[in-house]
Amino acid sequence: MSQVRTIVGLDIGTTKISAIIAEVDQDSEIPRLVGLGMVPSDGLKRGVVVDLEKTVRAISKAVSDAELMAGINIDSLIAGISGEHIRSINSHGVIAVSRNDNEISDSDVERVVDAARAVAIPADREIVHVLPQEFVIDEQSGIKVPIGMSGVRLEAEVHIVTAASTAVRNIYRAIGKCEKEVEALVLEALASSYAILTEDEQELGVAVIDIGGSTTNIAVYFDGSIRHTSTVPLGGKNVTNDIAIGLRTPVDQAEEIKLEYGAALTSMVDAGEMISVPGVGSRAARDISRNVLASIIGPRMEEILSMAYREVKKSNFPETLAAGIVITGGGSLLPGAIEMTEQIFDMPVKIGKPTGFDGLVELAQSPIHATGIGLIHYGLRHGDEVARSGKTRGVLKKIEKWFNEHF
Ligand SMILES: Nc1ncnc2c1ncn2[C@@H]1O[C@H](COP(=O)(O)OP(=O)(O)OP(=O)(O)O)[C@@H](O)[C@H]1O
Ligand SMILES: [Mg+2]
Repeated sequence: MSQVRTIVGLDIGTTKISAIIAEVDQDSEIPRLVGLGMVPSDGLKRGVVVDLEKTVRAISKAVSDAELMAGINIDSLIAGISGEHIRSINSHGVIAVSRNDNEISDSDVERVVDAARAVAIPADREIVHVLPQEFVIDEQSGIKVPIGMSGVRLEAEVHIVTAASTAVRNIYRAIGKCEKEVEALVLEALASSYAILTEDEQELGVAVIDIGGSTTNIAVYFDGSIRHTSTVPLGGKNVTNDIAIGLRTPVDQAEEIKLEYGAALTSMVDAGEMISVPGVGSRAARDISRNVLASIIGPRMEEILSMAYREVKKSNFPETLAAGIVITGGGSLLPGAIEMTEQIFDMPVKIGKPTGFDGLVELAQSPIHATGIGLIHYGLRHGDEVARSGKTRGVLKKIEKWFNEHF
């Protein structure tokens, strides 16, 4: 009988927390979704845990719902991280190849990546990812897999993602309180890319824009590597708040109105179509035109997408991103989001729905699950590293516990 591996993704979003359990047969590459638990999230602000108790309760519920559906208990999971505190930089490392016959070994690759990650990181931040972009062997650039090749001098270009240590610690603490281990922490924009991009798109050049509740996460790829990641501290919740203020209606009603009648462009709705807006407190309901609603939503969506555009520009992409823009996350579902993104970026745009899994597909094919499914793909592709970093964390935790008990 072939062995089955269980991989769990935990998307700690600002509007929902979702836990996704998948199983992968040893001889298969396709994860099979067997459990999904999703609960509203209200313990986060702009992607960062601000209310630990609420977050712990929500994570517990999401995980136990997923466990119940899957009929299994899980011990560990892969969690997403995002927020305004995330920073990313590109860095460079150089080493001399160690073997006399000049054949590049895995330890050379490890050493050169270590050399590239040796940049000064402030004491209150920690490294989340060091993502190799390409290697250069004796001035020959563009090499993806240097192991086994021959050379004297090996260089690495890497993309380093760092996060505020407190934000990282609070995620570990919240998951720890649910008595689960964190196998790995993955940048949400990176996770979403794993679920919705093909290798061809990454080669041609593409940007992922994940429009969430309070954050919009961006990842830019070209020449097959990640080049820039960033977060804009705005999302669908800001759109809803604008509607609540503009139409003087409670936030819950504003959200419903947005989902039912909202659009990003006034040209997409019939100006004569009226909708009923409930008043705040005892005030009477009023009728307004869908056009008025779209004129409230439009400027905020334009702000979010323009900020995303500025971030994508920072990647210094060559002329154009030939595979265009892939929008995902709940905000991508707003009618007119594609058209508005096309206008702002002047590039082809499509919606990214998570793919590459089977099982309970219909449960998780919405763009709101791009991050959750992406975390599973990340676990599948980086199985060894994930296991190793989980173990290191485990050892560190034991040392910390021993210290706490003895000093
Ligand atoms: N059909 C829809 N039309 C318009 N907006 C939608 C639709 N469905 C969801 N949204 C919006 O998407 C947002 C939630 O998206 P998502 O679930 O991707 O966020 P999240 O992952 O919880 O947040 P974040 O990524 O910021 O942490 C909400 O603001 C919601 O109003
Ligand atoms: Mg999200």
